[in-house]
Amino acid sequence: MENLDGKSALVTGAASGIGAAIARRLAAAGARVTMADIADQTGRELAAELGAQARYQHLDVGSEEDWAQCVADTCAAQNGLDILVNNAGIALLADIFSTSLSDWENIMRVNATGCFLGCRFGLEAMREQGGAIVNISSIAAMAGLAPYPAYSASKGAVRSLTKSIAAACRDGGIPVRCNSVHPGAIDTPMTRGIRIEGGDDIENAIVAGMGKPEDVAAMVAFLVSEDARFINGAEMLVDGTLCMG
Ligand SMILES: NC(=O)c1ccc[n+]([C@@H]2O[C@H](COP(=O)([O-])OP(=O)(O)OC[C@H]3O[C@@H](n4cnc5c(N)ncnc54)[C@H](O)[C@@H]3O)[C@@H](O)[C@H]2O)c1
Repeated sequence: MENLDGKSALVTGAASGIGAAIARRLAAAGARVTMADIADQTGRELAAELGAQARYQHLDVGSEEDWAQCVADTCAAQNGLDILVNNAGIALLADIFSTSLSDWENIMRVNATGCFLGCRFGLEAMREQGGAIVNISSIAAMAGLAPYPAYSASKGAVRSLTKSIAAACRDGGIPVRCNSVHPGAIDTPMTRGIRIEGGDDIENAIVAGMGKPEDVAAMVAFLVSEDARFINGAEMLVDGTLCMG
């Protein structure tokens, strides 16, 4: 287990699935964790389970005002910010013909804009003292997925934003690392919803290559630890070979 004693972490989308597992893992490694989400009741209950090491805060990742408040409150409550995990996301199973403009804008707002705002506010808080940002992308950023054009595009944005931030930190001498994690099919409420609504191909792919939220959390914990000090701008697959086809 990594040693994150005394580190201050903020995890978005922490009320469910992968985000909840990341928050648990970082807290177990010694970090103080702000669990941020729009699902306030569940988020509060999960933070209470983690005890004094965790706090919950409402954060709609698409809202600039929410980000300003959340980062300021997290820094005040946890004495700064060392670790940011941009995990909040939504999926949409809709091919290109049935994706409306508002579908596209909605998914971009949460997955791409949410990650952009998180990186901007997070970097501002970390630029002097240093830190680590992990952005949760997807294998959809590597391979186009026909049933998920908007989702795939939003996760592609997360992938290239991550690399741009890593390069900016390197060029600007900012002691912050920024990496992306690309899960394959992970058993969470998100994929359970798709399995109910989706076709056989998707269901088969999911069942064949399904991982657990803890598999992703372990990669995140490594990336934010000192052991990963030389890893910056990388894209880490956690997909049990699903991406290989
Ligand atoms: N489950 C998978 O197979 C899989 C695969 C690849 C990538 N991912 C990515 O991992 C991340 C977590 O997915 P998950 O499977 O745990 O999903 P999930 O649906 O279980 O959890 C997502 C969480 O994000 C929160 N959220 C949604 N919109 C938000 C907003 N505007 N502001 C703040 N929080 C918001 C939800 O309330 C929920 O708690 C997502 O970015 C997803 O795209 C998941």
